Amino acid sequence: MPRLLLFGASGAVGKALVRLLEAENAYTVHGTCRSNRPPLPAERCHRLDLEDFRKLELLWERIRPDAVVLALRGDYEKQLRFHRAVAELAKGSSCDVWFCSTSAVFDGSAKKPHTEEEAPAPESEYGRFKAACEEMMASVLGSRLRILRFPAVFGRDVPRVTQLMERLKRGEIVEYHDNFFANRHTDEMLARQIAFLLRHRPEGIFHLGSVDIMSQAEFYRELVFRLGYPKERVKAISHPADRILAVLSKRDWPEELRITHDDILDHFRS
Ligand SMILES: NC(=O)c1ccc[n+]([C@@H]2O[C@H](COP(=O)([O-])OP(=O)(O)OC[C@H]3O[C@@H](n4cnc5c(N)ncnc54)[C@H](OP(=O)(O)O)[C@@H]3O)[C@@H](O)[C@H]2O)c1
Repeated sequence: MPRLLLFGASGAVGKALVRLLEAENAYTVHGTCRSNRPPLPAERCHRLDLEDFRKLELLWERIRPDAVVLALRGDYEKQLRFHRAVAELAKGSSCDVWFCSTSAVFDGSAKKPHTEEEAPAPESEYGRFKAACEEMMASVLGSRLRILRFPAVFGRDVPRVTQLMERLKRGEIVEYHDNFFANRHTDEMLARQIAFLLRHRPEGIFHLGSVDIMSQAEFYRELVFRLGYPKERVKAISHPADRILAVLSKRDWPEELRITHDDILDHFRS
């Protein structure tokens, strides 16, 4: 069976992908984590810090992955060095590398949605770091690097949702922008899309996320309602200017891998 090494297997994205790939049983999945345990058997869980290059090399030698998914967070400088080290190891092998990037690589040009052929235009520190990481890894790996750009991810155990539920339980009013428009994703559909890509191995950049956009305040009003609270618990506020941050795809995705905001919200129907 082909071997897949997932960096960041204990994170929100990593866990959803592990659950799906373990159920599909098409790969022997190995996953790294720092302090949380991924949903993998102990012998395939590997504690690995971003600074532990010796351990990275040993792990690589031991697993010799056929595919790598990078779904990490952490200090940006350390991540850049770590991602370079992974790219250099992958360069000397035949393995495919899938890098989790973000819609934030376009946050310096937030006037319209962006498709795959557009060049990044980052403004925030996060967006600039992710764009730099994409560029650095592409310079080492060329077309062997696949870039996955997606917007905010939602799911029952995703921290932005569990933290929201904590605030609602405490009786707080939560504030969201009525003139910030975005697309969004679920952890489960993102995992299904990544699993599809791993199977078919197309090259290039992939924009993953809902095919429609919605304002932040409207989305959270609906979400809060699905979570069992009145919509009035969301207070709408405004940015000085309208903002749109969305990554839309020009690719021909199978119908069952398309997702809308209605589907995302249905995910939370109680
Ligand atoms: N979630 C989103 O909405 C979203 C949207 C767009 C793009 N992305 C991208 O998708 C990727 C995954 O995001 P996520 O939300 O799943 O992140 P996450 O839940 O914070 O998980 C991050 C993963 O990185 C590991 N990690 C963190 N610091 C580390 C360190 N110093 N050394 C080694 N490992 C470390 C964590 O291990 P422990 O759990 O053991 O600490 C965890 O496995 C990221 O690259 C992110 O930029 C996410």
